[in-house]
Amino acid sequence: QAAEKEGYTHFMMKEINEQPKGVHDTLHRRLDKEGNIVLDGIKITKEDLEKINKIYIVACGTAYHAGLVGKYAIEKFAKIPVEIDIASEFRYRDPFIDENTLFIAVSQSGETLDTLAALREAKRKGARILSIVNVVGSSVSRESDDVFYTWAGPEIAVASTKAYTTQLVSMYLVALHMAVTKGMLTDVQYKTYMEELKAIPEKIKKILGNTEKIQQLADAQFNNENVFYIGRGVDVAVAYEGSLKLKEISYIHSEAIAAGELKHGTIALVEQDRLIVALATQDKLYDKMLSNIQEVRARGAYVIAVAKEGNKEIEKVADKVIYIPDTLDELTPILSVIPLQIFSYYIAVARGCDVDKPKNLAKSVTVE
Ligand code: G6P
Repeated sequence: QAAEKEGYTHFMMKEINEQPKGVHDTLHRRLDKEGNIVLDGIKITKEDLEKINKIYIVACGTAYHAGLVGKYAIEKFAKIPVEIDIASEFRYRDPFIDENTLFIAVSQSGETLDTLAALREAKRKGARILSIVNVVGSSVSRESDDVFYTWAGPEIAVASTKAYTTQLVSMYLVALHMAVTKGMLTDVQYKTYMEELKAIPEKIKKILGNTEKIQQLADAQFNNENVFYIGRGVDVAVAYEGSLKLKEISYIHSEAIAAGELKHGTIALVEQDRLIVALATQDKLYDKMLSNIQEVRARGAYVIAVAKEGNKEIEKVADKVIYIPDTLDELTPILSVIPLQIFSYYIAVARGCDVDKPKNLAKSVTVE
């Protein structure tokens, strides 16, 4: 096992560092010489897409969080309404499905029982099944009409990292492919999104090359027992993932909430020195996030913010700021999750936790 870790103490850190390659491979294996998206495993035609009037994205855990970003991407680029659901809920709630429904399953292992059962239920009711899966030939992929493989490579650590970022790229590619097929994007828009996507692996490398500050923050904060993650827009999805990463490997109670919902309950729990991780990467929601940060700071919270490089005003309202390289608002989740993964990792290490094999958790949950 030591050899497989290639010099890293834990698989999780090795896998965090494999993200530039995973994202690069997932993207570039789907582009032809002209830069057009070619999805071999997906046979959805323009006519099929015109019929599809509703999409369900269904998954568990981290894959569900990738689905949350997928909803934003598909609705924004392809203009098809998307519902997102947790597989264990979807399979018991009699959702409305017919032959005009596209069901998207997201799963690293392709063996999660709840996801598989939800897929079978959707298929029985006539939906077309597309899956985004990491493990080739897994049950979910075998039972799908269309398959998109993430190229993360084997993921060993229970806490998912590179599977998540490759799921995000897959979601963007599927959404952009649908948009192009439907004729919803101009050439300029398409080129802009693709150029930004192609630049992501280098930007992840930049974050990975400068992790000292994140480690210092983790070393200063590892004794917390309660943390809140807040954000707006697509940052909410990243808040959920950041919070899950922290709780699963460090056993710290952590909760993610849309920042606009704070005032409806959670703010009652904000007191002196309560740690709040605030994602503020969305240009169009930046000012609103600054107000939310001020609200919690006024109640004594200690705020670590994640923002795009160049957006310096945040330094006036947050205690500490972690910057990510600039990119389009839609694509920030692939970058902003990286410091959160690293933050959770170092907190878990500082607490002496078994990072790769957290208690009570399994890599693949094949029971109900
Ligand atoms: C388990 C794993 C998570 C994973 C979830 C869904 O809970 O510990 O990391 O996100 O299952 O797994 P899947 O293989 O379907 O993505």
